[in-house]
Amino acid sequence: NERQSTPSDLQARKGDTPLVCLTAYTTPVARIADAECDLVLVGDSVGMVLHGLPSTVGVTLEMMILHGKAVARGLTRALMVVDMPFGSYEESPEQAFRNAARIMAETGAGAVKLEGGASMAGTIRFLTARSIPVMGHVGLTPQAINTLGGYKVQGRGEDADRVLADAAAVAEAGAFSVVLEKVPAALADRITAAVPIPTVGIGASAGCDGQILVIDDMLGLFTDFKPKFAKRYAELGQAAGDAVAAYAEEVRARRFPGPEHVFGEGARAKS
Ligand code: KIV
Ligand code: NA
Repeated sequence: NERQSTPSDLQARKGDTPLVCLTAYTTPVARIADAECDLVLVGDSVGMVLHGLPSTVGVTLEMMILHGKAVARGLTRALMVVDMPFGSYEESPEQAFRNAARIMAETGAGAVKLEGGASMAGTIRFLTARSIPVMGHVGLTPQAINTLGGYKVQGRGEDADRVLADAAAVAEAGAFSVVLEKVPAALADRITAAVPIPTVGIGASAGCDGQILVIDDMLGLFTDFKPKFAKRYAELGQAAGDAVAAYAEEVRARRFPGPEHVFGEGARAKS
């Protein structure tokens, strides 16, 4: 598959092999993800993971566009989706279109993602009718942290029908796919069976049509806190700490730089 995946390609894979998705925020990490992923999300998690913000609420459109441009340079196969940040789409469909169009035009993204179910259906319909593919995001919506009061599992018990209705509304409005975040596995399976678009789970179920993780979480680079669903596939933060300690020790002992890292006076010396 030589050309870059489109939203329609991924939508058509409902019921096929699971979609492999990760976030990325920089060119080199996007290249690594591109080798295996169907979709790379420039998530607003960038605010917490790379910028040290306490939540995603402080992430700006300018940050998303800057990281989107960087990620685009690293992708050749995977579909690039860019998160619309808090405050850039909730006010009106027109506001959402204006900002989504900037993201699409300035980053080259293939789609945008926005949080919210039934309440955002009109906005999703407005965008998709105007040639902007949209990925939905229901269940736990981290931009709503200040009204949710915590990153709690959504859709337990009586609340299940609300999350199902949100996913259905997003699909009906024209989203090509929907993220299900932090919902009970049985509910994720029920939603996956009920909606005609691929569900991409995070803290959801292996029965979803795809999975996504924050790459810094799964690589062990972001360790401020560890959600139950963030399986660690590597301990790069630990490896980086070890490398910095080894460097510090060699500098203090004058063992770095070694003879192979310094320059002589020879005319033909390599630069
Ligand atoms: O911002 C993000 O990383 C996300 C994914 C976790 C779905 O929205
Ligand atoms: Na996000």
